[in-house]
Amino acid sequence: MSLAGHWDNVFQTKSRTDVSWFEAEPTTSLELVKSVTTPSAAVIDVGAGTADLARRLASDGYQDITVLDISAIAIDSMAAMFTDIDHKPNFVVADVTKWLPGRTYDVWHDRAVFHFMVTEEMRNDYRATLTRAVHPGGFAIIGAFAEDGPEQCSGITVARQSAESIADFFSTDFDPVRSFGRIHRTPHGVDQHFVWVTLRRR
Ligand SMILES: C[S@@+](CC[C@H](N)C(=O)[O-])C[C@H]1O[C@@H](n2cnc3c(N)ncnc32)[C@H](O)[C@@H]1O
Repeated sequence: MSLAGHWDNVFQTKSRTDVSWFEAEPTTSLELVKSVTTPSAAVIDVGAGTADLARRLASDGYQDITVLDISAIAIDSMAAMFTDIDHKPNFVVADVTKWLPGRTYDVWHDRAVFHFMVTEEMRNDYRATLTRAVHPGGFAIIGAFAEDGPEQCSGITVARQSAESIADFFSTDFDPVRSFGRIHRTPHGVDQHFVWVTLRRR
């Protein structure tokens, strides 16, 4: 099965609130995006799935939001979450490792996507997209499974990260701003250790 097929299948067969990464309140993501922006900022949520971050930002007055996902099913579900909101985000169905952004953003947000970049080629392609997408002075916020986090996510073996490994990998064009660890409790009560890193584009 293709990668897009895997994720379409996940979003077709599981309810939004049943996936292990579901969180009722995107507290950390909101806090981090708001810490580096005002509502006039252009924000992209990469591998957004059906997360509530974009809707919450839109409710708080952010008008330039883009949500990208490899799964068209996820993006359709995300669009349905915006029926009662005037300012719709830009919806993009694309593989982040292959996508050519046609513009730049103030903030790139990624919760639980970078850890799927398990080969050097995938990580290099991800970094190339990120570097094209964020203009100098802009920010990248990346939340990934920590070194003591789970070895798999959605049945796929992941590349776990530390604050240092993320900062080192993106040091070609980004400087670290802040980092911390945080635990996500899944809907089934399992604790998952995440590392969160904010980077600034030079
Ligand atoms: C673990 S889920 C996290 C979803 C969302 N960020 C959240 O926090 O709820 C991973 C998401 O990344 C998407 N994804 C996986 N690989 C991708 C890729 N190469 N390009 C774009 N999206 C991808 C999946 O479809 C899925 O929506």
